[in-house]
Amino acid sequence: MFSSPEEVFEKEKKYIMQTYKRPRIVLKEGKGATVKDSFGKEYIDCVGGIAVNVVGYCHPAVVEAIKEQAGKLMHISNLYYTEPQVELAEKLSEISGMDKAFFCNSGAESVEAALKLASKVTEKHKFIAAEGSFHGRTLGSLSVTFETKFRSVFEPLLLNGVKFVRYNDADAIRKAIANDTAAVILEPIQGETGIIVPSEGYLKEVREICSEKDVLLILDEIQTGFGRTGRWFCKEYEGIEPDIMTVAKAMGAGFPIGAMLAKEGIEFETSEHASTFGGNPLACAAALASIKVIEEEGLVKRSRELGAYFMEKVHDDGIDSKPAVKEIRGKGLMIGIELTKPCGEMVDKALERNILINCTSDKVIRLAPPLVISKEQIDRVISVLYEIIK
Ligand SMILES: Cc1ncc(COP(=O)(O)O)c(C=O)c1O
Repeated sequence: MFSSPEEVFEKEKKYIMQTYKRPRIVLKEGKGATVKDSFGKEYIDCVGGIAVNVVGYCHPAVVEAIKEQAGKLMHISNLYYTEPQVELAEKLSEISGMDKAFFCNSGAESVEAALKLASKVTEKHKFIAAEGSFHGRTLGSLSVTFETKFRSVFEPLLLNGVKFVRYNDADAIRKAIANDTAAVILEPIQGETGIIVPSEGYLKEVREICSEKDVLLILDEIQTGFGRTGRWFCKEYEGIEPDIMTVAKAMGAGFPIGAMLAKEGIEFETSEHASTFGGNPLACAAALASIKVIEEEGLVKRSRELGAYFMEKVHDDGIDSKPAVKEIRGKGLMIGIELTKPCGEMVDKALERNILINCTSDKVIRLAPPLVISKEQIDRVISVLYEIIK
């Protein structure tokens, strides 16, 4: 259809709003942890569709499940019962410890649903979020997103009076809670802000404060969920249960789907919230197949082990002590390499060496590869990182 990548770039510029800055390659196909461009050049993918492609590209079980469901019933709306949706809700409850689901199509939508639900059940309308937080780009989710660069041209936003407190400071939350506070919303690891891992005990203390003050805790596991951090959900490291939890990204292994999960009794009633596509049979079949692959291939454990392997290797190779490196941190295969200067140039250099990485928060290289990545591929990534960081 296109005669050259240049034609794709030109038409993209002409017909698509320029909200993304992309490298000048056109990706055509993928397998496992690698993708190929239009010239057949193969890259090890450490971006993973931004922490989405946990089971790897074109996993046969997921492809088959989608094909099968597409041949039966793709969409019917939520005016009718469908089996994949109910099966997925039950499965999510089993792996997350939450009780009920509301299905939607993206992360931001699940945050919207969470904010609405918290307002409804508490009959209060003020939220506390963290400095550095990222919860999405819709007006509600943007209201609890911290960075000025995402918000400023759209202000005033939907929710007013959101208090932003220091991340990793439970006492700041205690002090910020007022009589009109509906909920505290937090990421268990801040992703977009550069893989900021809070101290052990922080989330547990926040949980205790919220319970004591009768305020809901919303945990945003959109980026950390489905094995990414070496647990099904990052909350498991602290043994806590939020009142509401948002999930999306890796849930459908690349098929768009999100969900807002909540504890028993925290729920919408008929007509209080809805989504035409949310939880349609095709998306649910993709998510069910992906969860099954994560289970059968032990990808949660694999993420934990490969994350530890990566950390050990970068240390042994001395990458973490290079002057250009401020810190290497993360959990499982959610890894951030903070540099002392902007990392845009590193992204280009890695691309030249057939590795896809991405830069978040200006100076942090974020690695979120498919959890099926091999040790050999990790070794290759590390040797390229060594070369370009040096
Ligand atoms: C923690 C977190 N919450 C919400 C979102 C928004 O998700 P989506 O882009 O699917 O709307 C993201 C996306 O990066 C995220 O990382």
